[in-house]
Amino acid sequence: MKDFLTVRGLGRSDLETLIDEADALRRDLDGGAVIERDLEGMCVANLFFEPSTRTRLSFDLAAQRLGAHVITFDPERSSTSKGESLRDTGLTVAAIGADILVARHKEEGVPKLLAEWTGLPVVNAGDGANEHPTQTLLDALTLRRHFGSIEGLRMAIVGDIAHSRVAGGLTTAMPVLGAAVTLVGPQGWLPEESGCPISNDLDSILGDVDVVYLLRVQTERGGVISDDYVADFGFGAPRVASLRPDAVVMHAGPLNRGVEISDEVAESPRSLIAEQVRNGVPTRMAVLRALARGRA
Ligand code: NCD
Repeated sequence: MKDFLTVRGLGRSDLETLIDEADALRRDLDGGAVIERDLEGMCVANLFFEPSTRTRLSFDLAAQRLGAHVITFDPERSSTSKGESLRDTGLTVAAIGADILVARHKEEGVPKLLAEWTGLPVVNAGDGANEHPTQTLLDALTLRRHFGSIEGLRMAIVGDIAHSRVAGGLTTAMPVLGAAVTLVGPQGWLPEESGCPISNDLDSILGDVDVVYLLRVQTERGGVISDDYVADFGFGAPRVASLRPDAVVMHAGPLNRGVEISDEVAESPRSLIAEQVRNGVPTRMAVLRALARGRA
């Protein structure tokens, strides 16, 4: 694997190989096993042109656990604030000695451009409303660990689908892994052509799903929280009561508590949110290791 820019085009066995490796690493981390330092001496550069907590910190720890040096770019304290172009920033980081770039940007396609400009392996850590492929993998790992298999699961992805890069990856990969996805949200936020069934009526589907995946309303990308949003799509205790006994709730974070999810639901035993975060480190380790091997 040269880059990890998208889950589009990956077949079931490609995805399952990465999930298997992430799962094995998760077990190693939990059991305190000695982890092979496959990135020993390499340098991973985190280029986050947009804010991030979970993704940036877990890439940082993942790279360190594999023995890499990590350098972190902060756009506000870098020459970007003096007008340096994206291409010059990429080439500078490459010249400094980075071996792998991890990039997040508000514009779709920037990680791919960085890969072209620098020739380095690049991981897409979120590009505009397009994709966030390591989030997709860690979500798949979380579901597989919880249910034993993804095959046959019924998932509702709920909320601001139009502006969500999290939804982008899930609607592509989950059907490949054997899950059925329904997109649920206000009319204006539902895609016209995704290949997945769509619905405006959250309550009508709750009894038929195994997974409710709530999306943050992405106000920085044009999502507006309407007066009706919480009543129509907010997930609180009354809606949990309509779920099947073994159904779970997921969210990529950060949470808009009281908007798409209530405090009670976020902290209930149904919530896999903490597991999603926990699975971020082994998932990113698996991806970085695959890129390091592809380069060797
Ligand atoms: C997502 C992101 O920033 O792309 N969160 C995350 O990486 N954990 C989703 C979001 O912005 O809400």
